[in-house]
Amino acid sequence: MSAEQEKQVAAVAAAQLVEDGMTVGLGTGTTVAHLLDALAARGLTGIRCVSTSPATEARARELGIPTEDFGAVDAFDIAIDGADQVAPDFWLVKGGGAAHTREKVVAASAERFVVMIDSSKTVEAITAPIPVELLAYGLSATLRRLGDTELRDVPHSPDGGVIADYRGEVGDPAALAARLSGTAGVVEHGLFPPAMVSAVVMGRGDEAVWLERR
Ligand code: 5RP
Repeated sequence: MSAEQEKQVAAVAAAQLVEDGMTVGLGTGTTVAHLLDALAARGLTGIRCVSTSPATEARARELGIPTEDFGAVDAFDIAIDGADQVAPDFWLVKGGGAAHTREKVVAASAERFVVMIDSSKTVEAITAPIPVELLAYGLSATLRRLGDTELRDVPHSPDGGVIADYRGEVGDPAALAARLSGTAGVVEHGLFPPAMVSAVVMGRGDEAVWLERR
């Protein structure tokens, strides 16, 4: 089975967690595109969704999934998203699609944050690159203080942030997350802590496997 098919398998399983009337945070990426298809196919009623990117928003609208501004919702029953790396203890790397800042705000506001991956996304230890979003103001000084960080050749985020990747040593993800969060000029980074993650579903072949945190 291809990675794309495994993403679909995981997305179909995650979509089963959404019930009529729920508030739902929608992530960004190719796995989320499968989630949107699966949600549309379920014909749920009364769900209120918030998108983390213009791409997700556009696709949701095409499929007839109602989306609202985040200003209209202050908490989610569930948020569902993809990931770039999942470690055994459920540290995640996100932001391959440059949407990690919005994705983290949505995940942090959700009672349950569910992550969908294909089988290539599990890792024994988190490694670089770690996506970061930076303030445009003082950019070269922020890059200098961060060290080992390269600008990514993509448009600014919808919130005006500059997207870059930290390519230095990772070591302990908690220590790196604290350093990145403590660096003035860093809007947000793509390390998501295990405390934020409720469940991870992985497509393995044609089977959806709910991972155990180790
Ligand atoms: C976007 C993300 C994505 O969830 C992550 O990059 C995985 O993407 P995909 O589902 O396309 O493999 O964090 O910012």
